[in-house]
Amino acid sequence: MIDPLALESRCRQFLMDIQAHQFVTFFDSERSTKLCELAMIETFSDDTIIFEEGEIPDFLYLVLEGEILFRKQIAGNNFQIVARAVPNDFFGEFGILDGQPRSAQAIVRGSATLAKIPRNIVIDILDNTRGAVVLKLFHYVIQRLRATTEQYVKQLAYKEKMVLVGEMVNTIIHDLKSPLSGIQLSSGMVREMHSEDEETIEWCNLIQAQATRMTAMAEELLEFARGSAVLHKRSINLVEPLKHFEKLNSIYFQDENVDFSIVCPEDLIIEVDDTKLARVLQNIVINAVQAFDGSGGNVAITVRKFTDCIRLEIRDNGPGIPEDIRENFFDAFVTYGKQGGTGLGTAIAKSIIEAHDGQIYFETSHETGTTFFIELPLSVITHQSPAMH
Ligand SMILES: Nc1ncnc2c1ncn2[C@@H]1O[C@H](COP(=O)(O)OP(=O)(O)OP(=O)(O)O)[C@@H](O)[C@H]1O
Ligand SMILES: [Mg+2]
Repeated sequence: MIDPLALESRCRQFLMDIQAHQFVTFFDSERSTKLCELAMIETFSDDTIIFEEGEIPDFLYLVLEGEILFRKQIAGNNFQIVARAVPNDFFGEFGILDGQPRSAQAIVRGSATLAKIPRNIVIDILDNTRGAVVLKLFHYVIQRLRATTEQYVKQLAYKEKMVLVGEMVNTIIHDLKSPLSGIQLSSGMVREMHSEDEETIEWCNLIQAQATRMTAMAEELLEFARGSAVLHKRSINLVEPLKHFEKLNSIYFQDENVDFSIVCPEDLIIEVDDTKLARVLQNIVINAVQAFDGSGGNVAITVRKFTDCIRLEIRDNGPGIPEDIRENFFDAFVTYGKQGGTGLGTAIAKSIIEAHDGQIYFETSHETGTTFFIELPLSVITHQSPAMH
């Protein structure tokens, strides 16, 4: 049951929020009182559509609580977010001013409380107001327009880059096909010619695994550029891809003076896309090795099973992630201090972990180095063993 006292205090709070809202403070006391009296307060739940693109505008909205997203429909049922509004913002002013249909859909994220002011009242008040108020409004509208344009241009540039990456990778995959099948065939032949020699067989297998990996990596990059990563999950013992990863990179680690170690329970059977998981390890570990910049260091992978997740920690004792890129670290094309760095490695890693419903984050410092944490939900486990707390 709703507590009437709590409801009253909530209403009083919202009334105060309207009085303090920047749109209302643009006006003199007579007009701001009128606005407060005529505003209708409404609380909306998650995903409520406040208005659709193309609708005829009827209200101006003041955000008192929560968040509103503005989205435009692109291909099929996909939407692109073009702006957002948070408490003290207002929206819907374009339609109010020029009477044209709404240019985007407004939808609630989480929940939100808005104060709605009918269009005719806003127009009436604006008609009879001083130039200074109009200037303030103008200023606000321009600021928002700038922010929206900037975000839109960024998104457009990102898409253009992704299209280019996609086209480039397509060409690379095409060109790689024949030399790679040459490598596969010749290493297969060498293996047959020396079928008694275990060491040769092992090296040939390694060559073949690396060649297969090259195509898989290029194809994953293509999937990432298209935004269409498909998981091919299977049940595996987690320690196996880790050991395999160590083996594939052992010569590289030796050359780079890297001391690499793995601590992982022997019986953790999980259902994941192991090729893609290997890609994550590759991208994260290679970054650590590159950060050592030839002077060597330690990279340690530790796997732990908790009551609510499986956590992989990838710890290095390198120089730490540069401060300038920490905030947008996982965004595509964020790279720092590397010749030829595309800035896609960690973005791909994140997309793969999120496709598994997991999360990835890091701790970093100049003194102690960097640790990446990859958490996978317990739902990936297909074989149970006692959990750690
Ligand atoms: N373990 C680490 N220690 C220090 N800096 C790191 C570490 N991992 C990543 N970085 C920094 O983060 C940047 C972004 O990494 P990311 O893998 O996304 O792109 P990249 O390595 O520059 O390019 P790409 O992986 O596409 O070849 C790197 O350029 C590097 O400066
Ligand atoms: Mg990288």
